[in-house]
Amino acid sequence: MKKVVILNASPRKDGNISQMLNIIGDTLFEKGSEVIIIDVCKLEFRPCIGCMKCRSAHDCVMPEDDAKRILRLVQESDALVVGSPCYWGNMTGQLKMLFDRWVYGMMDHSERDYPIPLLKGKKAVIVTTCTTQWPFNLIFKQSAGTVRALKEVLCWSGFKIASVIQKGATHKRPGLTPKEIAKCKKIALSLGSH
Ligand SMILES: Cc1cc2nc3c(=O)[nH]c(=O)nc-3n(C[C@H](O)[C@H](O)[C@H](O)COP(=O)(O)O)c2cc1C
Repeated sequence: MKKVVILNASPRKDGNISQMLNIIGDTLFEKGSEVIIIDVCKLEFRPCIGCMKCRSAHDCVMPEDDAKRILRLVQESDALVVGSPCYWGNMTGQLKMLFDRWVYGMMDHSERDYPIPLLKGKKAVIVTTCTTQWPFNLIFKQSAGTVRALKEVLCWSGFKIASVIQKGATHKRPGLTPKEIAKCKKIALSLGSH
């Protein structure tokens, strides 16, 4: 059975990110995967303090909290689905704070400072939305900026990016089209199948 963690970094629980992640999660669940949906904006943890001790200790100096708990779930999973709206051409602050806390569990460095991905073999799906409409969401690096920032984290950690969804113009066209719903289902089916 595949174990899939879904990180929902949107504070809007009936927004587009949440709708798409719910479809992906439901489809995976119906096809037999274990699915864990995390509401990133409700997690309780302190931001990284930049002490760098985790780089040698391979653990964070902070006491047990949601950041540590969810990192372990991701480490034990087969795949990760990350959904974040575009905020200032990037991921939401809440999600960035979480990834900052996770560096020690996601990548390491060799003695010569060569990066070592720690989560190789896992797949990732990126889901993002923004108000900027196509093609400007791509040209002006709006949703495309969010994708770039997420790839920075996921690719250095060793994830293989299986699929990317970018939905623009969410203020003009809120809600999902049948095509977008079908794409979410297709992505979930392929993620759960191999
Ligand atoms: C703090 C904040 C910053 C935002 N920054 C951008 C931006 O840089 N570019 C953009 O196109 N939309 C931006 N937006 C709009 C959101 O990306 C848009 O409302 C998104 O579709 C929300 O998705 P959700 O409903 O799934 O949460 C911003 C919204 C907020 C609240």
